[in-house]
Amino acid sequence: CRPKVHLQWASGSQPVRKLSVVSLLPQKLKDFVEDSVRLCRPSNVYVCDGSDTENSMLVEILLENRTIVPLPKYKNCFLARSCTRDVARVESRTFICTTNRRDAVNVPRGSAKGMLGNWMSLEDADSAVAERFPGCMEGRTMYVIPFSMGPLDSPYSKLGVQLTDSAYVVCSMRIMTRIGTKVLEKLDSLDDSGNGVGYFVKALHSVGRPVDGQVEQPHWPCDPDRTIILHKPEMNEIISYGSGYGGNSLLGKKCFALRIGSSIARREGWLAEHMLILGVTNPKGRKRYVVAAFPSACGKTNMAMMQPTLPGYKVECVGDDIVWMRFDRNGQLRAINPEFGFFGVAPGTSRSTNPVAMDTVFKNTIFTNVAQTSDGGVYWEGMDKLEPGVTVTDWQGNPWTPGSTPAAHPNSRFCTPAEQCPIIDPDWQSPEGVPIDAILFGGRRPTGVPLVYEAFDWKHGVYVGASMKSEATAAAEHKGKEIMHDPFAMRPFFGYNFGHYLQHWLSMETASPNVKVPKVFHVNWFRKNDQGKFMWPGYGENCRVLDWILRRIDNEPGTAQSTPIGNVPTRESFDVRGLNVDFDGLFSVPIDFWTEEAKEVAHFLYEQVDEDLPKDVQDQINNLFSRLSLY
Ligand code: GDP
Ligand code: PGA
Ligand code: MN
Ligand code: MN
Repeated sequence: CRPKVHLQWASGSQPVRKLSVVSLLPQKLKDFVEDSVRLCRPSNVYVCDGSDTENSMLVEILLENRTIVPLPKYKNCFLARSCTRDVARVESRTFICTTNRRDAVNVPRGSAKGMLGNWMSLEDADSAVAERFPGCMEGRTMYVIPFSMGPLDSPYSKLGVQLTDSAYVVCSMRIMTRIGTKVLEKLDSLDDSGNGVGYFVKALHSVGRPVDGQVEQPHWPCDPDRTIILHKPEMNEIISYGSGYGGNSLLGKKCFALRIGSSIARREGWLAEHMLILGVTNPKGRKRYVVAAFPSACGKTNMAMMQPTLPGYKVECVGDDIVWMRFDRNGQLRAINPEFGFFGVAPGTSRSTNPVAMDTVFKNTIFTNVAQTSDGGVYWEGMDKLEPGVTVTDWQGNPWTPGSTPAAHPNSRFCTPAEQCPIIDPDWQSPEGVPIDAILFGGRRPTGVPLVYEAFDWKHGVYVGASMKSEATAAAEHKGKEIMHDPFAMRPFFGYNFGHYLQHWLSMETASPNVKVPKVFHVNWFRKNDQGKFMWPGYGENCRVLDWILRRIDNEPGTAQSTPIGNVPTRESFDVRGLNVDFDGLFSVPIDFWTEEAKEVAHFLYEQVDEDLPKDVQDQINNLFSRLSLY
């Protein structure tokens, strides 16, 4: 027998509204809610409508529980301090669960460890759920969040429903995705008989409850010892337990839009990628859109909001983290941003580096793990100077003095509505997406890798994506600054076997007879000189790289010089006027370094992808070796 499900406000012990509308939900959603209620045993079930009133009610609850504190210096902004053990994505506890292992992850050669995702059997996933979920929501409210990834009127959008016992997650999901009644109506209108995998993605989330019942920090319940994030692409299901941190708990983002999304995209013939989208207008008034894939904390949000320093240039932002893109009937690549907000890295954001972000985040924003100032504001490393007399409380709530431990956690974040961005693109919600003319890959490479180079063609571009590496950052649990492979900036986000993913990318070239593949580039803002200093000023000056890329797209003669790894700018075609930079140092392609690099990448790809490494990629590896040996 099924438990009776009520919809009600969950403020303290006083239910304000009580409705039995769960019975009115579409059947599949009703089943999902009722099954999950039986498993998690929440005290209340509340179906979110996405309204302002509802949001205010949730904020009240969060303030009461001290999960958030107000930031009176700004309008409608709040600060959350998480449990100190729940501050980043946990890649080691993130699994793709499929019937066959090889569908989910690459199968490395011999006894080598797989570096590109973790697999779990469906049976083990069931056991993991059975060990964690029964009764995990006792005494809490289960919120039902209908959400859309992508504009509601876009044929490229997909729907999901997240169940969660965290009001912080509801408020954050409301910023990051389109939620509420409109989504429910669309869901109700869809035909659910179709493809058999479910027409909305089921996402179950609980912050969990430690085995001994001892919550370390009552304002931020979580279960870091048993955190687990499971994805079942064959069923379009996500199950996340034990963490309230954004990347683990806002399931529309990494879990749906990237992991489940990439696997849907493969089935349906499109691409779900870890990329920003921006529009750039040159001084002649010609506007183009580009996408760029950089690993977490390597500059996507900053580039998407760039304030160009070159006169006459304008950048507009479509998205800062995720792109869903496909070739349309005319062979033009078109992209949408499936998100509705920005979940950006706070440290390093300042008036001088990212004024656009600074103009975006000081209203209607939830900050997490930044420091707080005595005048009711926020503070983080690299922000502008503190006003005299103002004191700071660090991200853990302790008094802070300059020079001591970091004030803000290095992975502290702002969660802010995209529409507040002053340079949001007029077409950012266009249902058919924006046309894409270039794809950029990049990472943090202190040595050897030039500021920008261009792939020779599409297949070489796929190799360039596959060979990406970057220094580890605080966005996940990795320690130190080790340089890690991060193909396509997707290492933590592949929803299926990376060998199949490479084949899928290669297949795009012939997706239809008239496909116009965009040019592919690799950029590196992070090359360092002998003194360990960045050689390139970065941020707004990165428009100089965009300027060169646009010249390449326009096939301007005399702009490229071929090297074994790709085309680099000629001195005349790259605008460094007004900058004091070491041009040769920035663009040099050291052959010894690249020979080692090519060997190491080849070893990585052959070992990791083994039998699934496409022939075209093997050819690219060989071509690179022969180009290098000619030098
Ligand atoms: P995302 O996580 O990929 O969106 O990366 P962000 O744009 O949030 O940037 C992550 C960190 O890299 C921040 O601390 C930025 O200040 C820093 N960063 C971003 N762009 C640049 C750049 O062009 N040069 C340098 N040196 N640092 C940058
Ligand atoms: P980021 O997004 O890419 O902006 O860091 C969050 C993440 O990847 O964890
Ligand atoms: Mn990201
Ligand atoms: Mn970002």
